[in-house]
Amino acid sequence: MLSQAENDRLTRVGPGTPAGNLMRRYWHPVAAKAQLLERSVMPVRIFGEDLVLFVDGQGRPGLVADRCAHRRVKLEHGFTNDAGIVCPYHGWTYNAGGRCVAQPGEPPESTFKDKITITSYPVQELAGLLFAYLGPLPAPLLPRWDRLVWDNVYRVIGFVKIPCNWLQCMENTPDPVHTEYLHGHYFKHLLDKSKSTDERSRKLAEGFTTHFLKHDYAIGKYGIDRRWLLEGQSTDKDTWSKPQPLVFPDIHCTSGGGRHTFGWRLPIDDENTMEVYVRSFDPGPGVTVPVQDPVPYLEVEMVDEAGRFTALNSVTGQDVMAWVSQGTVLDRTEERLGDTDRGVILFRQLLMAQIDAVEEGRDPINVFRDPAENQCLDLPVPWDRGYAWGYGKDGSYVRGSITAADPLPAHLKAEIEDLFVRAAESRQRPASAIA
Ligand code: FES
Ligand SMILES: [Fe+2]
Repeated sequence: MLSQAENDRLTRVGPGTPAGNLMRRYWHPVAAKAQLLERSVMPVRIFGEDLVLFVDGQGRPGLVADRCAHRRVKLEHGFTNDAGIVCPYHGWTYNAGGRCVAQPGEPPESTFKDKITITSYPVQELAGLLFAYLGPLPAPLLPRWDRLVWDNVYRVIGFVKIPCNWLQCMENTPDPVHTEYLHGHYFKHLLDKSKSTDERSRKLAEGFTTHFLKHDYAIGKYGIDRRWLLEGQSTDKDTWSKPQPLVFPDIHCTSGGGRHTFGWRLPIDDENTMEVYVRSFDPGPGVTVPVQDPVPYLEVEMVDEAGRFTALNSVTGQDVMAWVSQGTVLDRTEERLGDTDRGVILFRQLLMAQIDAVEEGRDPINVFRDPAENQCLDLPVPWDRGYAWGYGKDGSYVRGSITAADPLPAHLKAEIEDLFVRAAESRQRPASAIA
């Protein structure tokens, strides 16, 4: 249970708020490069601030304030040229640094434009995502988390808009025990209620119902290290022997088989969150994954306009139901925490400590300024990267296994599945045949 003041301190992210100031010390993914290339200009809302992301005619991305300095027209209605983004009303043009570089209606000798700038933020690209930094300069390095820089993996980016505060989404990660009920018993209940004959879902739900024997949390190098053991498992099981981090402040990271998820619970404002994830499919050795430029993306709806939950047949859709139904901003003055909430409590303590660090003028954790340290930030991988679901004992791969849980368009599914089939075939081939 928190006081109202503590709850506000942790959840509110607008300009000048304690948690908002902390979040602005990190780079955040604001769009897929593919999205921006399709649109050239797109509105972005982050930490309660309205901005416009654009790519100029020379391919340079920029992120600037949403309104023109002249008479406040929204730049999201503008267009781009080689110099920057052009306001549709009178043509004032801003470059990626927010400088006004053209005022077509002013006299040719005028230097008025040199006095005009609008807010701008740095943008960098990694793993098919465009990251923005909204904090004080100099900006730290864009972290090169391993999942974002691994080679020979097939990536897909996803966006899920969630109508609630970011912190309740994030508190899901240091709470693995919820999986037994939400993704196990509740999922089974839904399948029974709908008389579903979907065997894959039934198997998935059944797997989640295994009881947690123990679970443990500790402050680790990059956030909260979580580990757990289910009934029937021994302590050499990787979920116990290889603690998995919650990557501070808003990243969750899961792996299963050859499918790895690295995702942010990005605060749009106090009452809305964008889950942004990079799913990496790793077929293992034996195949060369084609270069993806740009990386494909999906926008997945899990709550419709009327507030109905439209993806309860998926694990993420079940999580989203839980988070949204906690309230727009969860009232933590009314909650009653138990033993399963040890990880949640530790995360709140870490968050409080990092907000304090910023207020005391220090960098919070996971702010990197040394390029040597930032080559590749390795996180534990719970299973070997080459291992995947759907392999028989002879190493053959069952087509459809690795993408079964993803709402991917058919052509992407086929491309990923082909890679897994070919990789398994090449590994099965005797060495003499390869020679
Ligand atoms: S309002 Fe933008 S150029 Fe006039
Ligand atoms: Fe979950």
